[in-house]
Amino acid sequence: MKNELTNDILKVLYTEDEIHQRVQELGAAIAEEFAGRRPLFVGILKGSVIFLADLIRACPLLCDLEMMAVSSYGNATASSGRVRINFDLQQDVRGRDLIIVEDILDSGNTLSFLKDYLNAKGAASITIVTLLDKPSGRQKAVTADYIGFTVPDAFVVGYGLDYAQLYRNLPCIGVLKPEVYQKT
Ligand code: XMP
Ligand code: MG
Repeated sequence: MKNELTNDILKVLYTEDEIHQRVQELGAAIAEEFAGRRPLFVGILKGSVIFLADLIRACPLLCDLEMMAVSSYGNATASSGRVRINFDLQQDVRGRDLIIVEDILDSGNTLSFLKDYLNAKGAASITIVTLLDKPSGRQKAVTADYIGFTVPDAFVVGYGLDYAQLYRNLPCIGVLKPEVYQKT
């Protein structure tokens, strides 16, 4: 379908149906691993919100939910390497099984920082769930426990992921046209 959102997309990598199917699979696997343990999901704002909303509904578990906001990017398309907490946990996570939900694991700066941070807060365990993994971008040695899709070395948007705050509401995941960066 052509509209002002999809006009800027060079190529669709994953359709709405493919994403839905994969999220159901991830949810079922996580529910199996954490049955009876009441994990605490930690969603990373803003990119993970759409994935998180679908994922936790695919997980028939008793669980808690927290959000954190961190930034390392500004509006650029390459990592600055620095991570800052803009919104922190609202409860004690000591002794809890944490499930971090992230939109994309790229350089690894964000998730390696968050792992250290949440370990220091006394988490019993930390599980990383990322919708997308972009191994070609990696600068820090961090791996995810659950991965939706492994993506090529391109800037991707949609299903929560943005470029300069746009395209989060695109239902699919796609690669942005290069001229969109040049325009802004
Ligand atoms: P790092 O590099 O710390 O990246 O692993 C984590 C955060 O960087 C953003 N990011 C992207 N956002 N398309 C996006 O829309 C991308 O291709 C991309 N690569 C990294 C994202 O916010 C992620 O949480
Ligand atoms: Mg993000």
